[in-house]
Amino acid sequence: VGAAHYAVVSDAHVGPLHAARVHAALTAAGPASLHLVPAGEASKSRTRWAELTDALLAAGMGRDGCLVALGGGVVGDLAGFVAATYMRGVPLVQVPTSLLAMVDASVGGKTGIDVPAGKNLVGAFHQPRLVLADPDVLATLPLAELRAGLAEAVKHGLIADADYLAGIEAEADDLLARNPAVLERLVHRSVEIKAAVVGRDPLEAGERAILNAGHTVAHALERVTGYELPHGLAVAVGLVVEARAGESAGHTADGTADRLARVLGALGLAAAPPAGTDPEAVLAAMATDKKGRGGRPRYALPEAPGRMARAADGGWTLPLDEAHVRSALDHARTGLSAGPADV
Ligand SMILES: NC(=O)c1ccc[n+]([C@@H]2O[C@H](COP(=O)([O-])OP(=O)(O)OC[C@H]3O[C@@H](n4cnc5c(N)ncnc54)[C@H](O)[C@@H]3O)[C@@H](O)[C@H]2O)c1
Ligand SMILES: [Zn+2]
Repeated sequence: VGAAHYAVVSDAHVGPLHAARVHAALTAAGPASLHLVPAGEASKSRTRWAELTDALLAAGMGRDGCLVALGGGVVGDLAGFVAATYMRGVPLVQVPTSLLAMVDASVGGKTGIDVPAGKNLVGAFHQPRLVLADPDVLATLPLAELRAGLAEAVKHGLIADADYLAGIEAEADDLLARNPAVLERLVHRSVEIKAAVVGRDPLEAGERAILNAGHTVAHALERVTGYELPHGLAVAVGLVVEARAGESAGHTADGTADRLARVLGALGLAAAPPAGTDPEAVLAAMATDKKGRGGRPRYALPEAPGRMARAADGGWTLPLDEAHVRSALDHARTGLSAGPADV
């Protein structure tokens, strides 16, 4: 991507580790500036968006400039939204450095920020011109963040490829040991799966909703834990809870939830919400999700590993009786199935 000015956005963890290399390479190509934001979800804010756009204006970047997002999904979503809106849109290059950003956030063109009413409620679709993922940078990623990315890869196996899911389970130890060849194959297959879905439905009119498997519950868990629970860890819980609720509602093949829990367990991911999580608060959070339809949460549910259930009208999401979700949440908390009287 040739540009008159490259603006690299990174965060306080990734910047010191990896920005110098990127910045030096770009400076050779033309004027480049480096902009660091604090690490963490709180940087996906209107405040940081305003600071960054002002900084780019002050640096004199025009429409012939280019944004480079160097970091995890937080930097990608924030810098992406700056790119989408700066002078009505400038090119964006994603350089994801977390596994979650490599397998998920950097692909598909969703950008945005969080607002007091909820996560990702202000944003834009803005496809990157280029995504550059170098698995070597994962060497410095904290283990919990590595696991968070693996949870999204499990999701990709669940929605599209049972063999991939089995492969992740078989290679769990190599993945956790950051075997570069094994990680590279994982990134490759996950991107392939996500890109195929996004390619068929770029603006989320239908099928793209399957990428939200596990996420209705996950987003509610994130909300009730005040975003203390990292996204990927919430997704792990959500995948199992939604599959179990799908089983009791008759949409999902028996054994799917236990299968998922086994794969996630091999990766060191818990299928239970943090101790002390109140299931009623989780249910309430789902009912008030701003992205729900008319206050009734919808779920992208597996029919079986590798295949998603369809609604009678051909849609890709289904409603669930609250009783099924409550019982699945209880199972996740206690390891016990609710009796028929509870459902
Ligand atoms: N746009 C999308 O389609 C999409 C999809 C999924 C998630 N997301 C968003 O992505 C965000 C989560 O992304 P994330 O999990 O990457 O979080 P993150 O960006 O906060 O990164 C996680 C942590 O790892 C650090 N880090 C990243 N790369 C590192 C490296 N190579 N070495 C050392 N430390 C490193 C970061 O500084 C941060 O502390 C959420 O805001 C979520 O909404 C967006
Ligand atoms: Zn996710």
